[in-house]
Amino acid sequence: MSVVTVDVVPAYDVVVAPGALHEIGSVLRSFRRVAIVSQAEIADRYADAVRSDIDADVEVFLMGDGEEAKTFATLEDLCRRFAAWGLLRGDVVVALGGGVVGDTAGFAAAAYHRGIAVLQVPTTLLAMVDAAIGGKTAVNLPEGKNLVGAFHQPIGVLADTDTLASLPEQEYRSGLGEVAKYALLGDVVEDPSGLVELLRLHTTAVLARDPAVLGDLVTRCVRIKADVIALDPEERTGIRATLNLGHTLAHALETAGGYGLTHGEAVAIGLAFAGALAGGCERVGADVVDRYQAVPASLGLPTEVPGGEDLRADALLELMRRDKKASGGLTFVLPGPHGIERVDDPPEPALRYALTSVGIGE
Ligand SMILES: NC(=O)c1ccc[n+]([C@@H]2O[C@H](COP(=O)([O-])OP(=O)(O)OC[C@H]3O[C@@H](n4cnc5c(N)ncnc54)[C@H](O)[C@@H]3O)[C@@H](O)[C@H]2O)c1
Repeated sequence: MSVVTVDVVPAYDVVVAPGALHEIGSVLRSFRRVAIVSQAEIADRYADAVRSDIDADVEVFLMGDGEEAKTFATLEDLCRRFAAWGLLRGDVVVALGGGVVGDTAGFAAAAYHRGIAVLQVPTTLLAMVDAAIGGKTAVNLPEGKNLVGAFHQPIGVLADTDTLASLPEQEYRSGLGEVAKYALLGDVVEDPSGLVELLRLHTTAVLARDPAVLGDLVTRCVRIKADVIALDPEERTGIRATLNLGHTLAHALETAGGYGLTHGEAVAIGLAFAGALAGGCERVGADVVDRYQAVPASLGLPTEVPGGEDLRADALLELMRRDKKASGGLTFVLPGPHGIERVDDPPEPALRYALTSVGIGE
């Protein structure tokens, strides 16, 4: 079992292990009432195990699946059902599921009674390495994703790697896009997290979700995210924004719609693009540009947009300008001589070169 402490105020632990779900009884021993928020399929598989380990009043509150369930309507519905059940200020919400459950239940906990405790219990790879850690919670508006939310750090995170066995393949691949991001976020030459080496030595085991490597894989990613969160818990100094490596193009591709890409696949293409853009801006040499292509490719992720020749570079540039993290012009997170940092308005020829290099037409 690995325990990674997220050093914010108050600090909390991320427990990563096969069977970590069974730690829930000891984590929640001081609570009187526990509201588990989940989705039907996840609850069918895991809620009974969770419930039987908790020595308190427990109720399961189901919500819908997908981005369309991450709404104010779901938030209101959950909070009203919490109230009808009698959930109080000193009680706790458990978010049992992927990032959709984590973000929605987390926001409900942030708002209900002006903030009650939440324990994140992620069941997707993406949520284990990313969404469940760091306290960002949100719901979507018709005008855009994650537009209304709050920072609400959990009291803890239990990442049970056994739950990844039932995850659909495309969701697992989506999580691997974020894993590739973490591998590149560290200095890949020195590889202090050991993640690049782990991916290189155990590619087949990682792709096969071998329980022997999953704990190590998730733990190394969690350590990287925890370190960043501790330095900039509420995204004020720009350090936390480095976690958006590869995401500016990924969001634009997702907004442009279709292409059959999962979030992780879009991030993989975004990483290859970020490397090429950094190269085009002469911030890094060819070795780094190559790594930004090779790391996601080694995980079987795409580094070019399928059918991208039909996409117009101008349209994508416009979408990237509208990215909510851009403050006016075009903002990217790129590698460079001082590490990973925010870069505003890179030169147009470098942008066009980088778009072409990921298969996007003129
Ligand atoms: N808060 C953050 O910092 C943060 C970071 C990254 C992403 N996110 C958010 O996370 C969301 C995406 O999360 P996701 O990729 O986990 O998707 P998801 O929550 O939609 O889960 C994907 C699917 O897998 C199912 N599922 C989950 N765990 C399962 C399991 N163990 N076995 C079988 N099926 C399972 C879910 O029911 C769902 O159908 C997005 O809304 C994104 O905005 C938040």
